[in-house]
Amino acid sequence: MTRADMQKIYDQFADTYDQNRGLFDMSEIIDDFFRRLPGQPGRLLDLGCGAGEPFPAYFIARGWQVTGVDFSSRMLALAHRYQPDMKTILADIRDVEFPDETFDAITAIYCLFHIEHEKHRDIFQKIFRFLKPGGKSLFTYATKEYTGAEIFNGYKEFMGEKLFYSHTTPGNLSAILKSIGFTIESEQYRNIGGETFLWMTIAKPE
Ligand SMILES: C[S@@+](CC[C@H](N)C(=O)[O-])C[C@H]1O[C@@H](n2cnc3c(N)ncnc32)[C@H](O)[C@@H]1O
Repeated sequence: MTRADMQKIYDQFADTYDQNRGLFDMSEIIDDFFRRLPGQPGRLLDLGCGAGEPFPAYFIARGWQVTGVDFSSRMLALAHRYQPDMKTILADIRDVEFPDETFDAITAIYCLFHIEHEKHRDIFQKIFRFLKPGGKSLFTYATKEYTGAEIFNGYKEFMGEKLFYSHTTPGNLSAILKSIGFTIESEQYRNIGGETFLWMTIAKPE
């Protein structure tokens, strides 16, 4: 599946996303992450921000400056409508660049699994660079609980469309994160809406 195919599918999903806004209560997860963050209010980068909910909305309401990155222009159109105070960048997570130590927090919710796992090290290296010392990141990661395989590069159906998913093992992921310099603060499998993913909070040391 090419990048353009995936962008097109998320553009098509935008209306359904709009109709399902707020379907799942994520407040406990967001509260938990928010409580861990120093130096508030600060700057949040939300990768794969979609319609700007729920993470950007929560942080903006608490006075944070939020930047969202997504490669679907229709998802970003929703983000503009619902979170007009969020700065948005139409870009691929794999390509986007920021100066070192720009953000206090970086989230990547339900999106990294659409990127080949062979690229995950590069993306986490960028997250490390973009974070200020002491900054933290929360992300969701696909595992065999979702795909049925220890390591996966393939397709699964989501909202009636076949989408590309990819992940390595949680052990390999932890090794990558530690080799970059992150400490792992929390890892939890959570079932939300009948789908189980690994939620990890990682920190860049002071
Ligand atoms: C399942 S949605 C999640 C949206 C939002 N994070 C949320 O929790 O509701 C995945 C989002 O990631 C975006 N996305 C997927 N792969 C991407 C990539 N390589 N670069 C930028 N955005 C990407 C899609 O366009 C879509 O908006």
